[in-house]
Amino acid sequence: MAGSREQWNSKAGFILAAVGSAVGLGNMWRFSYLTAEGGGAAFVMLYIAFTLAVGLPVLLAELTLGRGSGKSPIQALAHFANAASASRAWSVLGAIFVAAGFLILAYYGVIAGWTLRYAGEAVLGFGPDTGALFGRISEGATAFVFHMVFMGLTISIVIGGVGAGIERVSLIAMPALFVLVIGIAGYAATLDGSGAGYAYYLNADLGNALTVPIFVDAAGQAFFSLSLGMGAMLTYASYLSRDDDLPAESAIIATADFGVAFLAGLMVFPLIFAFGLQDDVSGSTVGALFVALPKAFASMGDAGRVVGLLFFLALLVGALTSAISLLEVVVSAAMDGLGWGRVPAALVAGVSITALGAGAAWSTEVLGVMDSVANNLFLVGGGLGLAVFVGWVMPDPIGEARAGGQQGWLGLWLFLLRFAVPVALIFVLWNSVPSTWAQLVALFAG
Ligand code: TRP
Repeated sequence: MAGSREQWNSKAGFILAAVGSAVGLGNMWRFSYLTAEGGGAAFVMLYIAFTLAVGLPVLLAELTLGRGSGKSPIQALAHFANAASASRAWSVLGAIFVAAGFLILAYYGVIAGWTLRYAGEAVLGFGPDTGALFGRISEGATAFVFHMVFMGLTISIVIGGVGAGIERVSLIAMPALFVLVIGIAGYAATLDGSGAGYAYYLNADLGNALTVPIFVDAAGQAFFSLSLGMGAMLTYASYLSRDDDLPAESAIIATADFGVAFLAGLMVFPLIFAFGLQDDVSGSTVGALFVALPKAFASMGDAGRVVGLLFFLALLVGALTSAISLLEVVVSAAMDGLGWGRVPAALVAGVSITALGAGAAWSTEVLGVMDSVANNLFLVGGGLGLAVFVGWVMPDPIGEARAGGQQGWLGLWLFLLRFAVPVALIFVLWNSVPSTWAQLVALFAG
């Protein structure tokens, strides 16, 4: 390989970029509608349990593979398979990651496009019929145009490279996002009637929650929100040097990611309940957030224009720093595997992904199926592959994870990776593959 690999300029730069990858539409759009669908606090508790027992171990596994190899996913797996004298076929898992990157970014860009459009609509002021607005902008040529604009932005940042593009944007964008989210949640607390929103969000009704579909959703969400199961965190960690404390950094990333999701709930539910719009959410479609929330902004008058704009800007910033991590997986694979330069890799990958997004821009039903396939099959399956590889195949995972840090809880980590994570994920796959497959068949059958 020619030249030396790009590196982050600082530890804070890496951490904010990784938090930027994690924090995105998943924390605000997806977390809110799944929480509403899953009955409020009970879903949140399951999601926390999955994040701790499954998400965090897989996150550390990805960081360990990336830093230890200094390579993008396909080569990273080949590197450690080789070191263990295991089959080179493990690198196929890396190829699946790249495919997942294509699939996820294609529809993610479409939702980010809606967000961009809504930031503009917020300034103009939302009308009363936000359902019709969502119907107009979420599908068809307009949706595709806004998706293209968003993808253009994403591509241009990735072309800037690791330090000058991704890191520089994250250092500014993430603190700005935190300020916005805290500010809006604080504002929501001042509204009359917000109490019902907190009650719904924070009071667990456990009897309702412990159903298999909600278990599956909580697992998928833990993976999606932490950007796990397709080598995004692995790729970011491949630009690290040896002296990073990976266990500590995993904990920081997971805490920040959960923190923003939790704050998103503290924005969304009080706002929606204060205006009596709960029925618009429990419709449980992907559009719930884009229908109920703008109605609340419309009822607030001029304040709604400002708060609405800030809300959708925060969502957009989160989406952008996540999208660049998705694109970077594909770009780094093309650079390492095909020897391409960064600029052609980013252009070819970015434009192909944009084109693939046409399907999701065409119909929200296609988008929903892409989201289910990506989460329930690719990410959960990818996470299972990663856990088995690091837990059972890779030589000395604890030594690799520990370098630069403390021994800490790494025995527990390995135990979880070997046993708890595979069992939980096989259970999830067992219960989600048939329904995801049925969704796919239904889509193609018309
Ligand atoms: N985690 C991001 C979010 O919550 C989305 C994301 C970025 C992602 N990179 C990923 C999801 C890699 C899965 C895999 O919005």
